[in-house]
Amino acid sequence: MGKVVVVTSGKGGVGKTTSTAALGAALAQRNEKVVVVDFDVGLRNLDLIMGAERRVVYDIVNVIQGDAKLPQALIRDKRLDNLFLLPASQTRDKDALTPEGVEQVMADLKRYFDWVICDSPAGIERGATLAMRHADMAVVVTNPEVSSVRDSDRIIGLLDAKTMKAERGERIEKHLLLTRYDANRAERGDMLKVEDVLEILSIPLIGIIPESSDVLRASNIGAPVTLADAKSAPAMAYFDAARRLAGEDLPITIPGEKRGIFGKIFGRKAA
Ligand SMILES: Nc1ncnc2c1ncn2[C@@H]1O[C@H](COP(=O)(O)OP(=O)(O)OP(=O)(O)O)[C@@H](O)[C@H]1O
Ligand SMILES: [Mg+2]
Repeated sequence: MGKVVVVTSGKGGVGKTTSTAALGAALAQRNEKVVVVDFDVGLRNLDLIMGAERRVVYDIVNVIQGDAKLPQALIRDKRLDNLFLLPASQTRDKDALTPEGVEQVMADLKRYFDWVICDSPAGIERGATLAMRHADMAVVVTNPEVSSVRDSDRIIGLLDAKTMKAERGERIEKHLLLTRYDANRAERGDMLKVEDVLEILSIPLIGIIPESSDVLRASNIGAPVTLADAKSAPAMAYFDAARRLAGEDLPITIPGEKRGIFGKIFGRKAA
């Protein structure tokens, strides 16, 4: 049975879709069988970032409404044959995703894939709670700024209340992915520092993705950054985050700084 991961945040525009594509591709680049699922009904961005927008015929709503079979809606990546996309529909009807329909799709996907990675819409409403409902693990995408951290805190509360795991009395595994991090701006006090974010959101850190024009460049050519430019700083940070998601224990480094984060925290205390 595959693992279901929700990529969520509360606040919009923090890098959920970018991270879904990059983590999904990074896991597929490690030969895992991966599907990325777009829950952002109405906006439909993941197909663009994956470079598959012209190949969308059927979507998750068509599958739920019985107009297409699941394999007909899955789009195989052109670069990696073990990476698939289940697109969102562009319908304006936000109720098109039903809880029963989502449950069936998730159960079917888990049987075929090692990883089912769900890109959540922004907010804390129905779309976001449906995206997290069947998750085994959550990646909480957060930018180093107060409003993003506050919304992540609310999402962590929802993960502990509104998921199937929580309702069964189990704990959902939660990981913090800090994105768009700029060490210089954090040093100047224009952004929160990593320690500040960790102090507020006490869930384990899975990675720090630097602010980088490589991310925009990758999205412009319709490729996850780990495929567009595997040697770039954000791609390397996503590769490490994917390894941690898969259970590897790697030390975390802050992009743009030489010392590891724990060296930094303890180094400062010892000084
Ligand atoms: N590490 C990064 N460096 C620079 N730009 C980034 C980085 N991560 C994301 N971005 C940019 O931030 C913008 C928002 O990213 P993205 O669409 O992934 O966010 P989102 O959380 O999915 O947004 P929404 O809530 O609207 O779905 C995009 O223009 C993206 O290219
Ligand atoms: Mg998005």
